[in-house]
Amino acid sequence: MCGIVGYIGNKQASKIIIDGLKRLEYRGYDSAGIATLNGKIQLNKGKGKVANLEKMIGDSQNGSIGIGHTRWATHGEPNDINSHPHISQNGKLALVHNGIIENYNTLKKKLNDQGYEFYSETDTEVVAKLIESFLEKDSSSLKKAVQLALHQVTGTYGIALVHSDFPDQIIVARKGSPLLLGVGDGEMLIASDASAVAAYTDKVVYLDDGEIAVITKDDYTVESSDQVELTKEIHELALSLEEIEKGGYDHFMLKEIFEQPKAISDCLRGRINAEEGTITLGGIENVMDQLVNANRIVIAACGTSWHSGLVGEYLFEYLAKVPVEVEYASEFRYKEQLIGEGDVMIVISQSGETADTLAALREAQSRGALVLGVVNVVGSTIARETDAGVYIHAGPEIGVASTKAFTAQVTVLTLMAIRLGLEKGTIKKEEAQKLIKELALIPSKIESILENTDHIEHISRLFSYAPNFLYLGRSYSFPVALEGALKLKEISYIHAEGYPAAEMKHGPIALIDEMMPVVVIAATHHTNDKMISNIEEVKARKGRIIAITTSENGEVSDLAEFSTIIPATMDVFSPLLSVIPLQLLSYYVAVNRGCNVDQPRNLAKSVTVE
Ligand code: F6R
Repeated sequence: MCGIVGYIGNKQASKIIIDGLKRLEYRGYDSAGIATLNGKIQLNKGKGKVANLEKMIGDSQNGSIGIGHTRWATHGEPNDINSHPHISQNGKLALVHNGIIENYNTLKKKLNDQGYEFYSETDTEVVAKLIESFLEKDSSSLKKAVQLALHQVTGTYGIALVHSDFPDQIIVARKGSPLLLGVGDGEMLIASDASAVAAYTDKVVYLDDGEIAVITKDDYTVESSDQVELTKEIHELALSLEEIEKGGYDHFMLKEIFEQPKAISDCLRGRINAEEGTITLGGIENVMDQLVNANRIVIAACGTSWHSGLVGEYLFEYLAKVPVEVEYASEFRYKEQLIGEGDVMIVISQSGETADTLAALREAQSRGALVLGVVNVVGSTIARETDAGVYIHAGPEIGVASTKAFTAQVTVLTLMAIRLGLEKGTIKKEEAQKLIKELALIPSKIESILENTDHIEHISRLFSYAPNFLYLGRSYSFPVALEGALKLKEISYIHAEGYPAAEMKHGPIALIDEMMPVVVIAATHHTNDKMISNIEEVKARKGRIIAITTSENGEVSDLAEFSTIIPATMDVFSPLLSVIPLQLLSYYVAVNRGCNVDQPRNLAKSVTVE
């Protein structure tokens, strides 16, 4: 969601903060702001992109300490006033916030009674003024005032603040929203995401919930919620600048689509041995017995990660014969909690920070289930809180629409399912050898799809102005249909629905006429005949078929108005290939419509509020 960045050192803070905000813009981009300290607070903020803010401040923003923010609105519409930083009534304190202060109305009333006035509709302004109210009673310690204020706050926050009476420190605190410190030489950075600090340091300290840190240019101290000083581990960042830049592509999304062969190879590296038919997953070897003996597996995730979880359900049930339930993380929490000892939960998250997924993880853990993570961002909260896990190693994903994370997540789930099948004896060694050999070929098969994008670009031009799309698939292709529809809606704003192909007859078929593009994913052998019948049903109603199929399914190509041929593979691996043309289709449609592909309206990359 919102992005936070701060700097304290000897350089001009604004340059570093603006640079960091640009790198964080994918997290939220309805407004941006900066406050630096140069004797007094210098504040600039407004609706729009970081580039607008950069233009607004020119060379005028001075000081070698400051904080900045990119906003994804929760309370109050995106406008200049609601943008962060928010300042205290006396203008001495500036604060940025990510999260939601749930009791802000109660606090606001109390502060109103004490004479504080509010200019914005945000929950954040309340925190700035609450801290100010404590400082008015005791101005000796900014940290103490922050601690007292945060005791009164319910909800989630990652906050950073500066105060003109304490010109040599930044205070940060976290509960539920990620924050890290970047440790430099004679300078320190703070950020909600490592990509904002990677250009300046490779040493980071991750804050945990309840912690507060006082940062000076040479040092930092971290305290727990019960005010015990902590020695925090310094982690080394394995993040190159190249990975977080567009590298000649028009958009991060396109770059990330094209990175998929590499992402999957990285994900497989060191984990598979095709000759022996073995799979090693270092992160979960210690808990393998518990996984093997699990009564059932519950997968919890959101959005695209939930779709990869659905593919996982097919994989685990087919390969390891273990019952799987896939839950929206946001719904899981509010259901009767039947999960417990003997169950395994797998949480899937690219960012490792999604609030609902984190909440599901904590709920399952508190009830005694073993919780495994399938996460991309190393050191993220979900990665740290799960009992064990397997990183997907897709590299930084900056485009808001998830692409390479999906295929890498599916790859990890495939590895886990094959390994579990081997452990349980539900697949034989020879079968595993065949599977692993084919899995190792997937990166080059994706490459061959990516070598022929002209055809998909051509289809995209014909259908860019269709008001609706339908995506149909069966078995492994059903979650791919959901994912294809999600990709299209989020970046091109075209209404799209994914459906199990046979379910179409139970309702959506009413939508089909000569105006309706129907994307049919006919990539699995065992459902081919049935898919052909579904295609006939659509054609009989004049729907326009765009098929994603293999050369082996000649009948599908003959029936479809357009078909994109992907390489044949085993059914279990088909999502890894069939999703690629759908990612490209949505990308080109969005580009044709002039949409902002990497930063679609209303969305944020990492959803850290519930
Ligand atoms: C869609 C998309 C989102 C995320 C979802 C979960 O393209 O990116 O639907 O998949 O917000 O995010 P993570 O995986 O970070 O938990």
